[in-house]
Amino acid sequence: MPIVVTGATGRLGRLVVEALLDRGVAAEHIVAAGRNTDKIKDLADRGVQVRAIDFNDPATLRAAFAGAEKALLVSGSEIGQRAAQHQNVIDAAGSTGVGLLAYTSIANADRTRMRLAAEHRATETALRASGVPFALLRHGWYAENYTDQIGTYRQHGVVLGSAGAGRISAATRADYAAAAAAVLTADGQQGRVYELGGDQAFTMTELASEISNATGQDIAYQDLSVDEYTRVLVDAGLPEPAAALYADSDRAIAQGDLHVTSGDLSRLIGRPTTSLTDAVTAALS
Ligand SMILES: NC(=O)c1ccc[n+]([C@@H]2O[C@H](COP(=O)([O-])OP(=O)(O)OC[C@H]3O[C@@H](n4cnc5c(N)ncnc54)[C@H](OP(=O)(O)O)[C@@H]3O)[C@@H](O)[C@H]2O)c1
Repeated sequence: MPIVVTGATGRLGRLVVEALLDRGVAAEHIVAAGRNTDKIKDLADRGVQVRAIDFNDPATLRAAFAGAEKALLVSGSEIGQRAAQHQNVIDAAGSTGVGLLAYTSIANADRTRMRLAAEHRATETALRASGVPFALLRHGWYAENYTDQIGTYRQHGVVLGSAGAGRISAATRADYAAAAAAVLTADGQQGRVYELGGDQAFTMTELASEISNATGQDIAYQDLSVDEYTRVLVDAGLPEPAAALYADSDRAIAQGDLHVTSGDLSRLIGRPTTSLTDAVTAALS
């Protein structure tokens, strides 16, 4: 019985498909669903079923979920539209009788005041109300949120933010993907809530120091107010609403909202999570 992965045309979803294949799930039992399926022709070549979906088009979702035993809803990327889009996915899973719908939520979704979490909380509420068997994979930050910026940090000789001394339990997308594959291939997952994050949380000061060590360049963390950091992001080219949202996320980090101490991620993947040192080294190589 197939396992559907939404967002398979994106970075996390593709890694989940790869992790399912690594776990021995037969390619023909995996449905890789995404909007721009041109991006995953290689998966089709390997025998994975590829289906085009649009979260705004319920018929495409019902067609993708038809006959599926389990599915992973990788949260969408269109901020502001996601609660309605995810509701469409939940409705499609319900009407096609999917046996488990796992959802990539955000760490500490039930208590964080981070504005970015509101759509995740709405989706969790919709899942609980739907009657669809579900599991919650509450993700901390991706390590790549930082390692992708190393070039910018090096260019300016500084890491900017408003996360204060908040601890961040970031993990690589590959680790989160391995955990999703573990949940999708295990029994008894209905109702499980996983708080997922890296084993070793770090502060922004520690991040800057890690990058300094790896590059040999002196890079410091400079903490800004939320308003100052918003202006920095706007000056760097982000639209004001997105800049304010990112700065608000840093404010929440300062309050500890992305600190995860459950150990769920390493337990699910059966090994320690990828360290920040290794993630930085990989990004530089
Ligand atoms: N925890 C974190 O640090 C963090 C960071 C960034 C994002 N996220 C969240 O995690 C998700 C996965 O991250 P990622 O890095 O894999 O993001 P990504 O590479 O941007 O992938 C997003 C995926 O969502 C799909 N999508 C967006 N709108 C859609 C729509 N209307 N209908 C169908 N599919 C749609 C995209 O499809 P197409 O590419 O085919 O259009 C793509 O497959 C993101 O979408 C976001 O919710 C978390």
